[in-house]
Amino acid sequence: MTLMGLVGVGRIGAFHAATLHALPDVEVVVADAQAGRAEALAGSLGARWAPDVGALLREGIAGLVIATPTGSHAELIDRGVANGTPVFCEKPVADTGARSLEIVKSVDKHGGRVQIGFQRRFDAGYAAVRAEVGRGALGRVHTLRGQTCDPAPPPAAYIATSGGIFKDCSVHDFDAIRWVTGREVLSVFAAGSQGGEPFFAASGDADTAAALLRLDDDALATVTATRYHGAGYAVTLEVQGTGGTVGAGFDDRLPLRPVGDADGTWPRGPAQTSFMSRFHEAYVRELQAFVDFAEGRIDNPCTVGDALEALYVAEACDLSRAENRPVTLAEVRR
Ligand SMILES: NC(=O)c1ccc[n+]([C@@H]2O[C@H](COP(=O)([O-])OP(=O)(O)OC[C@H]3O[C@@H](n4cnc5c(N)ncnc54)[C@H](O)[C@@H]3O)[C@@H](O)[C@H]2O)c1
Repeated sequence: MTLMGLVGVGRIGAFHAATLHALPDVEVVVADAQAGRAEALAGSLGARWAPDVGALLREGIAGLVIATPTGSHAELIDRGVANGTPVFCEKPVADTGARSLEIVKSVDKHGGRVQIGFQRRFDAGYAAVRAEVGRGALGRVHTLRGQTCDPAPPPAAYIATSGGIFKDCSVHDFDAIRWVTGREVLSVFAAGSQGGEPFFAASGDADTAAALLRLDDDALATVTATRYHGAGYAVTLEVQGTGGTVGAGFDDRLPLRPVGDADGTWPRGPAQTSFMSRFHEAYVRELQAFVDFAEGRIDNPCTVGDALEALYVAEACDLSRAENRPVTLAEVRR
């Protein structure tokens, strides 16, 4: 039996705790700054809880899952690494590239083993697209199109601390594009709009955004995101090359309504409504991978260095949007 620890039993943490608890040969012990939350969740799962992270680490856990708000990730990663415990941390690793770079350096210095939670790497569709690109089935890849659409905005308070739409939403597309192609982003040109509720403008954020990325092999990618896609939660990636196009996410639950000569047989629905249902299986595979990584059975599937690169792309998009000009990654990479 492998004992895993988890800190932060909020929206995603409670879900991850239940997932870990259901994995074969895994037990979970949970903690939260609000100890009552940890105790309640442990009670509902039939798992154990600890009063704080220190106590969690003293349980002799094989791995630590961090699902607390972004601002606390750095300190908790440090604590896990200092304890010699493999760490899984939800994305983003930090709210700025500068802070993420400090974490990368600290993890490297102490020989830490840290996996970051970009779950699209564990989605069957995204993995199949990567395999097609990897075996050369598409010929020369020249065009990619990624999108992340939420049905409705999160609360205003969340927007104020989210880091903005590129860091909060599109960062998943940026990671997926790097992972699927094996290429780095050279430059971006990004824009955002604020047609929705006034709290987006008040936070300096956009509710809808688009970015054009140039990769280091001269392929072009467009990434779009919106907080207002009332038809449902839509996440797709298309990759196009001289030999054809493949796509992830084009299943019966895609909130898309073909019109014109479509015969109405696809997609049959019901439409996805949240990241939790859309990526349920990916989250399970991701945490199984973390158990395997912590136990030394597989290599790290998503490093802090990967998270840093995706965040740099998001920061380049923020700068491009602010100054209305193309921005090279060299301008934001430290
Ligand atoms: N990969 C994904 O698809 C995905 C989806 C949602 C959220 N996230 C990420 O997960 C993280 C958590 O998001 P959420 O929406 O679940 O947050 P949340 O606010 O719902 O939950 C956070 C929990 O952590 C606890 N907490 C806060 N600070 C703590 C500390 N220092 N020590 C211990 N416990 C602490 C809070 O009491 C709360 O229970 C964020 O970084 C977010 O970006 C990732």
